[in-house]
Amino acid sequence: MLSNSLQIMDILSHRLPDAMVLMDRAGIIIWCNDAFKALSNHVEVTAIGLELHKIFPVRRKNANSTYTAPIVELFIKGEKNVNGIYRYTKKDNAYDLDVHFDVLDENDPKSEVLVSIRDLTSEMKDIQEKQKKELERSYMASLNIMDDLEKEKINLQREVEKTKLNEKRLQEAMNIKTEFTSTVSHELRTPLASIKGSIDIVMSGSAGDVSADQNKFLSKAKANIDRLKRLIDDFLDFSKLEAGKASFEKEWVDLKRMVDDVIDIQHAVAEKKGLVLKTDIDGILPKIFCDPDRVNQVLTNLLNNAIKFTDTGYIEVSAHILEGTDVVHVCVKDTGEGISKEDIGRIFEKFQQVGDPSHRKTGGTGLGLSIVKEIICQHGGKIWVESEVNQGSKFIFTLPLKAEGA
Ligand SMILES: Nc1ncnc2c1ncn2[C@@H]1O[C@H](COP(=O)(O)OP(=O)(O)O)[C@@H](O)[C@H]1O
Ligand SMILES: [Mg+2]
Repeated sequence: MLSNSLQIMDILSHRLPDAMVLMDRAGIIIWCNDAFKALSNHVEVTAIGLELHKIFPVRRKNANSTYTAPIVELFIKGEKNVNGIYRYTKKDNAYDLDVHFDVLDENDPKSEVLVSIRDLTSEMKDIQEKQKKELERSYMASLNIMDDLEKEKINLQREVEKTKLNEKRLQEAMNIKTEFTSTVSHELRTPLASIKGSIDIVMSGSAGDVSADQNKFLSKAKANIDRLKRLIDDFLDFSKLEAGKASFEKEWVDLKRMVDDVIDIQHAVAEKKGLVLKTDIDGILPKIFCDPDRVNQVLTNLLNNAIKFTDTGYIEVSAHILEGTDVVHVCVKDTGEGISKEDIGRIFEKFQQVGDPSHRKTGGTGLGLSIVKEIICQHGGKIWVESEVNQGSKFIFTLPLKAEGA
């Protein structure tokens, strides 16, 4: 068992990176491990039996920069506190060694001493080498990252260029479209006005007698010409708004007065259908900075729709400032046919007419709400609808109270 332990100890000591020497009290080497042989250049020749301080003259530097006698010699002579770090020069290389003396049996003056020597220089070198390698690796990694970033930057620049080009093309296409729309609309308006004028003359009887039947057909033609004119006007208006080409003449507007004006104009149509028109406006509503003609157009469109799609009940226009906000909420509420959940998402899109098809004959263009939405958005507001089939609808829009940038 003991011999086994010694064997293990022997193997372990040879595996250790620290140099180990067992010496007697005269400094004669009894045993040493492989690390010591490497450090003292005794790889080939065995060191056993030699004097440690002669083959390995590690010295301590004094305050006046002269070296003392070899440290092992000092220890043999009985100097205390010899454990420490020493400079050792071999050929042209200087080593810093951490030397430690352990007397195996403190009570026996003849006891052997184990000297352990750690080479701090190579340990430092190892660390430095590791750090250098680590630095090199990080440097290479950062070079790679920079390379990737550079590539990414070039890709991004290309994308930006592409997007710019596409934007330019899109803008060009939009311009062509607006120009085309405006030209076609103008070209259509002139002959239309002429047809309408001619029908008016025929209907007035100044071009000869008109029978009741003829008058009926002429009225139909006139109504359709009116409808076509509305469609062209709306289409031209929407195209301008959509292209951002419509200019807004904003001023401080009294919203209550504007609502009253719009209601006054629509009153007769509503009354004809037996509908009640009501308002509910905040008493202390401040003036709003907006284009009065455009906001009037919004209210007129919404009120028109409310009257058109309501057969019984009432229509109410309300305007309130929500507490703690800088926006006014305007709501046009009706008790009409309502809009189904499937259709509600489509009604602000151009040319969308939903619900009861019989109403579509009443002269709509399906552009009214698209125009309304553009006007509100371009005033910095929002518009949405809450509705239930056969219960009625609420069209709500907001407008900022403050002028933009104020
Ligand atoms: N108050 C409302 N009640 C029920 N449906 C409505 C109401 N307002 C709009 N709608 C629906 O939204 C569609 C689009 O409205 P709009 O853009 O004004 O076109 P138009 O009035 O020319 O039909 C209408 O055709 C109708 O189906
Ligand atoms: Mg409409």
